[in-house]
Amino acid sequence: VTKIGVLTSGGDSPGMNAAIRAVVRTSLYHGLEVYGVLRGYNGMVEDDIFKMESRSVANIIQRGGTILKTARSKDFYEYDGRKRAYDNLKKRGINGLVVIGGDGSFNGALRFSKEFDIPCIGLPGTIDKDIAGTDFTIGFDTAVNTAVEAIDKIRDTADAHDRLFIIEVMGRDAGYIALHSGIATGAEHILIPERKTDIESVIASLQEKEKRKKLVNLIVVAEGDEFGGAEQVARVVKEKMPNVDARVCILGHIQRGGSPSCIDRLIASRMGYHAVECLLTGKHNVMVGIQNNKMHYTPLENAVKAKQKINEEWMRIVKILAS
Ligand code: F6P
Repeated sequence: VTKIGVLTSGGDSPGMNAAIRAVVRTSLYHGLEVYGVLRGYNGMVEDDIFKMESRSVANIIQRGGTILKTARSKDFYEYDGRKRAYDNLKKRGINGLVVIGGDGSFNGALRFSKEFDIPCIGLPGTIDKDIAGTDFTIGFDTAVNTAVEAIDKIRDTADAHDRLFIIEVMGRDAGYIALHSGIATGAEHILIPERKTDIESVIASLQEKEKRKKLVNLIVVAEGDEFGGAEQVARVVKEKMPNVDARVCILGHIQRGGSPSCIDRLIASRMGYHAVECLLTGKHNVMVGIQNNKMHYTPLENAVKAKQKINEEWMRIVKILAS
């Protein structure tokens, strides 16, 4: 591999810029040429590709978002789109690709690498932390800290008014943000997509708390919980407990932005560095992850959305500490 392309794809996540920086600087260190592809796979299909220098990634390690922009590309689902993408890489002599994104982006990379002679390396960039083969994904730590900061603020006002707050955090298919931020903020209940939501027992527990005048309660709900998010949970709570002063707060996309945490910058830098090493040493078509603080390489076909195994101990801790 002599010329590397790098792109970000799918939902953005804080730390993507640090990963781009690491890929660019490591490539240049090895004397390789490196090209930025704009707006995910769209830039490959539409030939929006530019040569990057060391200065191209100056002053970005601390910035959220992605300087390469990102998208979910429809054209790349089709063979014709992928062929055009290939031709655009080929004419520049690009013969290795680093894709920073989630499982959807890895599926695209896998298909592309099977059809054409361009090895691909995936870096897990998603706030949801729902990728198999890595303990961390780039952006999760920042997102969860943003959620914690916001929920702490909600607790202040909840406490002042003796209110119940139902707070929705991101996670269409995964409850990691809810679970981590909920435990860290002392939530009474945490509702996540991987578990059946026993709304009756949530109501029973709130009623029991109401009896003993524990009126400040926080419920953290992942947007993808089976009830359909915070609004739906609030509807049932208000119906069953009309006297309770309840409010809903949906944190939304603030969780995707902001300056990346130290952990996200570190893992992004390590993963970006190792992505280039992989291309150089022939470890092709893998996702670079970190497990037990060591680099871990997963074939792209196995780097899919991980189904979270619920740690029963964590759920027990939520219950005991919230009483
Ligand atoms: O995958 C990251 C994520 O933020 C999910 O938690 C969320 O469901 C989804 O992206 C939202 O996507 P969009 O920004 O396209 O609405």
